[in-house]
Amino acid sequence: MARVVIINHPLIEHKMAIIRNKATDTKTFRENVNEIGSLVTYEITRDLATRPVEVETPITKTVCQVLAKEVVIVPILRAGLGMVDGIQLVIPTAKIGHIGLYRDEATLKPVEYYVKLPNEVLNATILVVDPMLATGGSSVAAINAIKARGGKDIRFVGLVGCPEGIKVLSEAHPDVDIYLVKVDERLNEVGYIVPGLGDCGDRLFGTK
Ligand code: PRP
Ligand code: URA
Repeated sequence: MARVVIINHPLIEHKMAIIRNKATDTKTFRENVNEIGSLVTYEITRDLATRPVEVETPITKTVCQVLAKEVVIVPILRAGLGMVDGIQLVIPTAKIGHIGLYRDEATLKPVEYYVKLPNEVLNATILVVDPMLATGGSSVAAINAIKARGGKDIRFVGLVGCPEGIKVLSEAHPDVDIYLVKVDERLNEVGYIVPGLGDCGDRLFGTK
């Protein structure tokens, strides 16, 4: 069964208060989403495997550890893009794939419009990134698309989830661990997370 990990840290709490606030402007919202992206990356990657390498320091030879596998970051467009720079700041060697999905406003079902993944997905640890886990439809569809192209070692990285989305994602992909900062109360009648932070894509990019 999928592990659900809720990441707690005072700095993340502080930044969540900023992005939840409807008075926060686009620039500040984007900066804080990215900064939370950097902070959660420590927890998401805590158990990544390492392998020993010999390194020559200015003094002598020693054995150090490096990541055993590549990391691929796959944001779900658009809102997932908001966390990519922050994650890549701490994993600068990560390759990046993109999956374009939007929710049909009437059915709330995801509509796929773009998939481009690096070849490394076959053997990499893949971080599927989307700040919002609402109905779970987008994350399930994105992970379906990655698995269909050979991806196996997948983690979902979000900010705000809700019980409905966690249930849908963990049932569809029990092998995918789910990392979130907050599990909010519920979805409202139009599929928004309550209390949530509104439409994350619109707030990141200044649309609407
Ligand atoms: C939002 C959000 C997620 C999705 C989550 O995308 O960025 O991708 O909804 O909802 P779900 O769990 O119910 O599928 P949206 O459709 O608004 O597209 P956008 O990011 O391009 O604005
Ligand atoms: N997508 C968002 O951007 N916000 C929500 O609350 C739900 C889905």
